[in-house]
Amino acid sequence: MHLAIIGGTGLSQLDGLESVRHQVISTPYGEPSGPVSIGQMAGCEVVFLPRHGYNHRIPPHGINYRANLWALKELGVERILAVSSVGGIAPGMQPGALCVPDQIIDYTWGRPNTFFEGDLEAVTHVDFSYPYDADLRASLLRAGAALSIPLMDGGTYGATQGPRLETAAEIQRMQRDGCDVVGMTGMPEAILARECDIRYASLNVVANRAAGMNGGGLVDFHEINQTIRDRMAAVRRLFLHLLNTRDCAVCGNAASAAPVCAAGAAKLKPDA
Ligand code: HPA
Repeated sequence: MHLAIIGGTGLSQLDGLESVRHQVISTPYGEPSGPVSIGQMAGCEVVFLPRHGYNHRIPPHGINYRANLWALKELGVERILAVSSVGGIAPGMQPGALCVPDQIIDYTWGRPNTFFEGDLEAVTHVDFSYPYDADLRASLLRAGAALSIPLMDGGTYGATQGPRLETAAEIQRMQRDGCDVVGMTGMPEAILARECDIRYASLNVVANRAAGMNGGGLVDFHEINQTIRDRMAAVRRLFLHLLNTRDCAVCGNAASAAPVCAAGAAKLKPDA
């Protein structure tokens, strides 16, 4: 079992996943967001987990990210494609745009964000220079090109705490920091994937202009929901294409699947 899709807002169910069985997995960190769905999509085995739960009840700061990643690791997942909705900060990040980010700035706080704590043999650091897997990112971009679905190649994802949206001043600060999009769930999900050597890439659906970026108007929740609903069809098409074409970085069934992430995830034990 290789590929997992983590669904965000607007992707609580994975249409097209067939012969689904649900598996409840208990972890040392408690319960994941729900039972994982394991099924077939385009003839490939795919694990699906909606990070907000199947009823979209778990807020971003309440998600048990460690349990989610632990459960996927336990199932043998080696690759994750994570979908999340974001607000657009950079001028090009307009509602409806799809972005494959390549960097993260973490503004979250108080979320358990590592597996490396407690009774360790040695303090463990993990390289996180490039938080997203290069091969998976390239696969998503290839699929976009093949289907003529425009994807923004790169961008810095600013992860905020939520559940409230940001103030206009916070967004201005994030813009000065270099953030292109803002979302609430990208961290610690990405670092936990890296810590357990799971390749991870993210597909962001720009749902709205971030606070203060829409000419003085307020954030329009109706627009957010509508945009997410509209764009999920494109997200599904991208995934189906990757699976139909047996894209090696996604399915891991070709010798050419280069271990880029494995190299990046080499752990540094200073006193080893
Ligand atoms: N801010 C944070 N998270 C989001 C937003 C936003 O504007 N839109 C969708 N997710």
